[in-house]
Order: sequence, then C-alpha cells, then structure tokens
Amino acid sequence: MEMTFAMIKPNGVKSGLIGRILDRYTSARLSVVGLKLHQMTSEEARGFYAEHVNKPFFPELEAYMTKGPSVMIALAGENAIAAVRAINGATNPAKAEPGTLRYDFAPSMTENVVHSSDSPASAEREVAFWFKKEDLYEYEAAS
Ligand code: CMP
Repeated sequence: MEMTFAMIKPNGVKSGLIGRILDRYTSARLSVVGLKLHQMTSEEARGFYAEHVNKPFFPELEAYMTKGPSVMIALAGENAIAAVRAINGATNPAKAEPGTLRYDFAPSMTENVVHSSDSPASAEREVAFWFKKEDLYEYEAAS
C-alpha cells in the first residue's frame, strides 16, 4: 500500500466541498488514514512550501493558504500518489482535464482547491509534516 498527502485548500472548505472531494478519493478505493481541519500559520506555509518560498507567487500563496482552515488528509491505496494526482488534475486549472477536481471547482492557479504529493519522497515528507505517527490509522478498505 502506498501513502500520499492531499489537502482541501481554504476555498474548497469555504465552498462546502469537503464531502464531495473526500467522496472522489474514497470512491477510487483510497482509504482515509489521517484527517484533520487546520488553519495554516505563515511559519507552516513557509515550511510546507519551502521549495516555493523564493518564487514570485509565494506571497499570494501564503496569504491564501493562511486565510482559513484547510483539510489535511493522509490517503492509502494502490498507486495512491498517481491516483490522487489524476483525480486532482493539473496544477493550473486552465489546463485540467474535465472530470478532475480542479477542472470542476478551481477558479485560479493560486486558489486551485486541492494539493497532493507529487513523488514518494514528497509524500513521506508531507504526511510527516502534518501528522504524528500515532494519528495515522492503516486499514484496508472493504470491497
Ligand atoms: P500546489 O499543488 O499546492 O503547489 C504549489 C502551489 O502554488 C500550487 O498548488 C498553486 O496553488 C500555487 N501557485 C501559484 N502560482 C503558481 C505557479 N506559477 N506555479 C506553480 N504553483 C503556483
């Protein structure tokens, strides 16, 4: 079983999309193994998005990510990293395929509604960034 990290960003939470987004993941036979609602601080945004801190879009990203709560999700399943990326769609919603979460719900590149890990190394780092080991519950989804 592979584990990955996904996040419903503040505009997804404010728009009442938590249930619909979680349903897309669990309908794809992914198990929610960690879950919490949390408002990111600026310090957390700088740590979580460390690779983007010096990019020109970072101030806008930081302001957006800290303006309201997000849903932090650890998901487990077969090929979970690729599966969640496919469900989310391209980072830029203008390039996202129909039927993906970003095509359906994201108004802009910054407010792109969801995040997910892009590699095994980032999945490990991102799950550990938001969850203590004892707050993760591995189990197999019933068929
Ligand atoms: P996410 O998958 O969370 O990873 C980095 C985030 O930065 C990205 O989604 C977008 O919300 C945001 N962002 C804004 N502008 C850009 C950009 N030009 N390139 C990449 N990410 C961007």
